[in-house]
Amino acid sequence: MTTLGIIGGTGQLGSAMATAWLETLTIPPHRLWIANRSGSLGPLMRWDQVRATPDAQAMVSECDVVVLAVPPAEVSNLHIATGNRLVISVMAGVSQERLAEITRGTRIVRAMSSPAAAQRLAYSPWTANDISEEDTGTVTKLLSACGLTDRVASEDMIDRFTALTGPVPGFVAAFADAMVAHAARSSIPDEIASRAIRQLFLAAGTIMALDEKPPRAYVDEMIAYDGTTAEGLRELDKGSLKDAVHAGLEAAYQRTKTIG
Ligand SMILES: NC(=O)c1ccc[n+]([C@@H]2O[C@H](COP(=O)([O-])OP(=O)(O)OC[C@H]3O[C@@H](n4cnc5c(N)ncnc54)[C@H](OP(=O)(O)O)[C@@H]3O)[C@@H](O)[C@H]2O)c1
Repeated sequence: MTTLGIIGGTGQLGSAMATAWLETLTIPPHRLWIANRSGSLGPLMRWDQVRATPDAQAMVSECDVVVLAVPPAEVSNLHIATGNRLVISVMAGVSQERLAEITRGTRIVRAMSSPAAAQRLAYSPWTANDISEEDTGTVTKLLSACGLTDRVASEDMIDRFTALTGPVPGFVAAFADAMVAHAARSSIPDEIASRAIRQLFLAAGTIMALDEKPPRAYVDEMIAYDGTTAEGLRELDKGSLKDAVHAGLEAAYQRTKTIG
């Protein structure tokens, strides 16, 4: 059975992924290690069989799979040699080349995920150069326990998804905020507007997630229905919403090229 260690396992992302693996029994608590500077279990305290250490190399020595989840700025402070262990990085903007330098390892997977892993709702794409079938199975099992996963063709796609699906609620919160701001202009109290729009996003997200249809199909269907929403959607299509969203996502993507 796999023994897995997470360097940065008490952070926002590391602890969310650990929670997913522990709650789904993908990794039993006595098979999970955490390394961080404090040596404490932090948000994972309720699993008292999980082991924590400030010595990352000592953790690596005990594990078959090593997950890297420290801030990109801390990468140069990791002094580890992972040898022939499977390494999975979920760090933004840290390239496979750089990961090989830091870890001196050979079985390296670059992935992205999000703190929605704690609710098993993350989207976690991954890529690797040469990887065995067994490692492919291990990575797929681990990332599937956090939500949905796909193997993608290039590191550049990981950078794209770092912008698109890494932040949760991220860009979706900005759209929700624009709707709340509209409600405020119509003198709806903030508290009610916020509650209503959060419920709308729950419903819209659930409906879109449960069906295979692309988002555009819903827009086209509503325009074809030709009710009040169609009038609004036609107006929205005239404006620069797509350009604004593209510019925001492009800026986040460009940042992935320098953050690591
Ligand atoms: N948070 C997100 O929404 C999100 C989404 C996608 C990707 N990511 C990626 O996930 C990574 C972690 O982000 P985060 O938001 O989870 O960070 P965070 O909440 O700040 O947590 C950082 C973790 O790393 C540990 N740490 C920091 N420096 C360390 C060092 N030198 N040696 C060992 N452990 C160290 C921290 O514990 P101590 O302070 O005890 O050392 C903590 O467990 C980043 O690379 C980020 O790009 C994050």
